[in-house]
Amino acid sequence: MNDSTLLQLLNARFAAAFTAAGAPGANPVIQPAARPEFGDYQANGAMGAAKQLKKNPRELAQAVIDHVDVSGIADTLEIAGPGFINIKLSDAFLASRANAALADAKLGVPLPAKQTVVVDYSSPNLAKEMHVGHLRSTIIGDALARLLAFLGHDVVRQNHVGDWGTQFGMLTAYLVEQDRAGNTAIALDDLENFYRAAKVRFDADPAFADTAREYVVKLQGGDAQVRALWQQFLDVSLSHCEAIYRKLGVQLTRADVRGESAYNDDLPRVVADLRQQGLLVEDQGAQVVFLDEFKNKEGEPAAYIVQKQDGGYLYSTSDLATLRYRSGTLHCNRSLYVVDARQGLHFQQLFTLGRKAGYVPADMQLEHVAFGTMMGEDGRPFKTRSGDTVKLVELLDEAVSRAHALVSEKNPDLDEATRQQVAQAVGIGAVKYADLSKHRTSDYVFSWDSMLSFEGNTAPYLQYACTRIAGVFRKAGELAVDAPIAITEPAEHALALELARFADVVNATAAEALPHFLCGYLYQLATQFMRFYEACPILKSEGTVLASRLQLAKLTGKTLETGLGLLGIEALEAM
Ligand code: ARG
Repeated sequence: MNDSTLLQLLNARFAAAFTAAGAPGANPVIQPAARPEFGDYQANGAMGAAKQLKKNPRELAQAVIDHVDVSGIADTLEIAGPGFINIKLSDAFLASRANAALADAKLGVPLPAKQTVVVDYSSPNLAKEMHVGHLRSTIIGDALARLLAFLGHDVVRQNHVGDWGTQFGMLTAYLVEQDRAGNTAIALDDLENFYRAAKVRFDADPAFADTAREYVVKLQGGDAQVRALWQQFLDVSLSHCEAIYRKLGVQLTRADVRGESAYNDDLPRVVADLRQQGLLVEDQGAQVVFLDEFKNKEGEPAAYIVQKQDGGYLYSTSDLATLRYRSGTLHCNRSLYVVDARQGLHFQQLFTLGRKAGYVPADMQLEHVAFGTMMGEDGRPFKTRSGDTVKLVELLDEAVSRAHALVSEKNPDLDEATRQQVAQAVGIGAVKYADLSKHRTSDYVFSWDSMLSFEGNTAPYLQYACTRIAGVFRKAGELAVDAPIAITEPAEHALALELARFADVVNATAAEALPHFLCGYLYQLATQFMRFYEACPILKSEGTVLASRLQLAKLTGKTLETGLGLLGIEALEAM
């Protein structure tokens, strides 16, 4: 294992040089080179530091070059423009990084200080069936959880399902009716219809509505019979979710479910505590906290409601209790909420109040990992042709069957079993990758054609690159020479440089919770491999060159496979 990433290494060396050159503490601003002519990396800190010290930036840059110790790392350092330092890494250094990565289960990624990280994701409302709105949270959250676990953190997955509230009175009451009619199993087969039918009953029949309200009270009061019905409903609803998790290959299990109801007993205590701290104000009968940090349209402090007029609690109240649980019981260092961007204000207010009320220590990071809406190709929120919400199960099945057709067309020789396996990996991979490869905060257009394309930044392209590499090894067979990676050709240098960046990309992806960083990197890596493959014949070379190139290909394959794995996408041997 390497003890530092490439950026960490260059940063440390150049920071020391800035200090030695008379600019102590200056940030060296190390970045990948903007263009290949500029070398591999650039240190752009001289301009900023010189300005502060009222020095000439090119002179400072020269002093940094005179002092920097990059022996064994870089061949040439050059000053460009107003004081950029261009860094060309040495072939031997890149080769040694590649050899170290190849020998390491973590591919040379140094493990950061271990943290406990909560990832709150998927978190559907169990009253209804999961819909496309939950797809992004499920996919993004799962990728982040895998990534953080890869970096050695303790990841606590939390499926904060909506399993509490007045809807469940209506649903359990309707369950009793259906039970009496002997329809339960059939009725629960389609939760969407079940919910709709219950709502129709609720709106049409005052007697049923009264029963439903009675059930809410009983449910909250802990009535054994109603609780059992509620539990029965939740079980069915959760198994619907789990069917989707299985199809998606998402790692959530029952043990990760900790829904709103889990915090129920704590809600009166939260409200009492806020009251005791003098944070609570009664406003039109409701209990609210006024937050000066947030102004409403009239310029007055926004009210964060924690208890309704009728005594009922809200989403906000249970999220406050959740905060206390995650800090007080789980002792997490970082809590990620992978939730639709439209809930942004809720989370900002929650975090502000949580800190004010002392529910989270100052050094615990709270992050709303917000994402935009999934749009149809018509530019409107994704719906079926008739305007209904799209059922996730159907969407995922369609992905697999489209991939099946595609694979059958591209490779008619594959046997049916392999074809199905490939279709599964490509179809699900395409859906996930299309989502993960876009900046998550923007809305994105769901397009079958572009996500299933074999060209461009798509899952099939990356999976295909993996099969190309596997193909090289199938052809290579047993090798006579076993030699480490050695680099001489520019295309080898470029590929090894790309490989050496993996750790920094993984770190940045985890730090910013932005999976598209990793996607962009994998695409770049695959592209660089294809260039290397064209420029440096592998199987036509011999001896140590052959061995070295094979090893480079092997590391590329492992890096692509690991990277895809961190995104929850399967790599393929053949397709
Ligand atoms: N159930 C919510 C929804 O479907 C998402 C919950 C997110 N997590 C949280 N702690 N609020 O919108």
